[in-house]
Amino acid sequence: MEQKNILNYDTVSLDSEKGQLVIINQTRLPYDIEILRLNTQKQVWDAIYRLEVRGAPAIGIAGAIGVYLAAKEIKADNFEEFYSEFVKAKDYLDSSRPTAVNLSWALNRMEKIVLDNKDKSVAEIVELLHKEAVEIKEEDTWVCKTIGEYGLSLVKPGDGLLTHCNAGQLATSKYGTATAPMYLGYEKGYNFRVFADETRPLLQGARLTAFELHSAGIDVTLICDNMASSVMKKGWIDAVFVGCDRVAVNGDTANKVGTSGVGIIAKYYGVPMYICAPTSTIDMNCPTGKEIHIEERPAEEITEMWYKERMAPDGVKTFNPAFDVTDHECIAGIITEYGIAYPPFEESLKAIFEKKAQAKVK
Ligand code: MRU
Repeated sequence: MEQKNILNYDTVSLDSEKGQLVIINQTRLPYDIEILRLNTQKQVWDAIYRLEVRGAPAIGIAGAIGVYLAAKEIKADNFEEFYSEFVKAKDYLDSSRPTAVNLSWALNRMEKIVLDNKDKSVAEIVELLHKEAVEIKEEDTWVCKTIGEYGLSLVKPGDGLLTHCNAGQLATSKYGTATAPMYLGYEKGYNFRVFADETRPLLQGARLTAFELHSAGIDVTLICDNMASSVMKKGWIDAVFVGCDRVAVNGDTANKVGTSGVGIIAKYYGVPMYICAPTSTIDMNCPTGKEIHIEERPAEEITEMWYKERMAPDGVKTFNPAFDVTDHECIAGIITEYGIAYPPFEESLKAIFEKKAQAKVK
């Protein structure tokens, strides 16, 4: 049987009838499109931790669906009993990965539904949680598309674009964030030349970004992480678009490890670096990058995973941070669904949130 194009699959969704979180197992891509159906909190926690579902917006959506599924199973006679079990499930799911703020953002949004509806029955609250989880996913498509439109306004047909990691459809509900301008530009015949960093150690750029852009028919060239300066020096790159896991108030941005190096090189060569950031990834409680908790992952990811044989001496010390923080001074703009923030970011990000608050009131 012919396999569907990867872009026709839902990255993360809820099967309401069966009460399951449905994801593409991203650790198997690009060679195998395996769909996982998850029922329990433990299964959802493991899937997030193992990066079977990954990317900041996608883990937010998975967390929201996961906590709804957990809430559905709570046996409680009154609100207090229900709420105490709900909080346990929420905190447990929140502990699966620490850096992407979207996970706690989505879980807090789900908790607000519970707290705002104390007067309702448990069954009614669970139904409202169902609606909210679906809404969080649906909203993400609008957010990504809007970021894509703003991003597209910053580039021109024929431009060379570089990206790091996967902030693509596989990291969101649709379009991706950093890839959204690429998809929208492609529809308009912009003929971008995209360069995708392979993204050591877990190869999200090679396995996921190159895969999804190539499947879409976009001109994509895969490079190793240490080749970014070569392509910039040659003048092949007009703009860098990357995603993010947490943006601080001063604009410092945590994203996949290696992003900060790309930012420094881009600044040296005068190439603008844009952070594609849903407002759900901007943490207005986090003053600077110094306060961002960076996840550290197992040594095996750099010593043996993806190799036929172990490629490091037994017992060697390792350091494997999953993210790094790009200094705001290397960032030309932060593209959100409510417009583009330019330096100084303290002021422009505040204005973005004011615009968002006004839009919600209307
Ligand atoms: O460890 P990962 O694969 O979850 O890291 C993902 C990234 O760093 C993405 O760039 C980020 O989450 C933005 S996704 C729109």
